[in-house]
Amino acid sequence: MKTVTADPVIDLEGIYTAYEGADRPIIKDASLRIGKGEFVIVGGPNGAGKTTLLESINGMLPLTHGRATVCGLDVSRRGNDVRKKVGYVIQNFAFDPLTPFSVEQVVLMGRYGLLGWLKRPDEKDHGAVASALHRLGIEDLGSRPIGKLSGGQQQKVLIAQSLVRNPEILLLDEPFSNLDLCSRDFISNVLVDTVKSGCTVIMVSHAFDGLPDYLVRIVALNDGCICLDEMCQACDVEEHVRTVCRVATHA
Ligand SMILES: Nc1ncnc2c1ncn2[C@@H]1O[C@H](COP(=O)(O)OP(=O)(O)OP(=O)(O)O)[C@@H](O)[C@H]1O
Ligand SMILES: [Mg+2]
Repeated sequence: MKTVTADPVIDLEGIYTAYEGADRPIIKDASLRIGKGEFVIVGGPNGAGKTTLLESINGMLPLTHGRATVCGLDVSRRGNDVRKKVGYVIQNFAFDPLTPFSVEQVVLMGRYGLLGWLKRPDEKDHGAVASALHRLGIEDLGSRPIGKLSGGQQQKVLIAQSLVRNPEILLLDEPFSNLDLCSRDFISNVLVDTVKSGCTVIMVSHAFDGLPDYLVRIVALNDGCICLDEMCQACDVEEHVRTVCRVATHA
C-alpha cells in the first residue's frame, strides 16, 4: 500500500543533513510528506540515520541541501518556532541521580516554551501536568525526585513532558527501550489515542511487539536514504523492518 499525502504537516524535499565538521552527509536526498494524524514508524539498522532524521525534522541540525517545512514553517529559518509545536522524546536519556527536580516539575518544564515571557505557570498548566501524569499512569510518581526513578519510569515522565505541550507533532526515539511488556502495550495505546486526537506521531523503534492493531505508515532508512515508505498493519511492521535490516547487513 503506497502513501499519498495531500496536505502535509511535515514536508521534506530532497534534504541532506550533515553533522558539524563532517565531510559527508548522513541523511541523503530524503523526501517525505507526512499528514496530520498519521502514525509513522521509522525503522532500519543501527547507524542508518533514524535519530538524525528526527533531529532534521525538529530543526536541530542544519540542512546542507533541500528544504524542510514543518507545521507550515521553514525549518532552516524558524527552528525555534517549529520546536514549540513539536514534542521530542530523545533516545536513551537518563537523569543524573542528583537532579534536583520532582517528576511534576520536570513535566511542567514541557509547558515553559508555551508560556509568555516572564509568565509563571498557572492553574491551567498545573492541570495539564496532572492530566499528562494520569495519561501515562504515573500520577503516583508526581512528588518523587526524577533522578531516583528507574529507567522505564523516567522514560514515561519524558513522554508526559512532551504530551503536556499538546504538540502538533510528537517525535519519539526508541520510547520502548526501557519499558516492560505491559508498559509497551499501555504506551502504544496512549500513542494511538494521541494520533486519534489529531497529533502526528513519528516513532523510531526496534521493538514492535506492543503495537496495537492499527494502520501505520512504515518508513525505513538504510545508510541515510529512505528505502521503504508504505502503509501497513502494525502486526506487519516487524517483517518489513527485518527485510530492510537483512538487506543492509548483506549489502
Ligand atoms: N554528533 C554526531 N557527529 C557526527 N556523526 C554522528 C553524530 N551522531 C551520529 N552520527 C553518525 O550519523 C550516523 C547516523 O546516526 P544515527 O544516530 O542517526 O543512527 P540511528 O539510525 O539512530 O542508529 P541507532 O539505531 O543505533 O540509534 C552514524 O553513522 C553516526 O555515527
Ligand atoms: Mg538512534
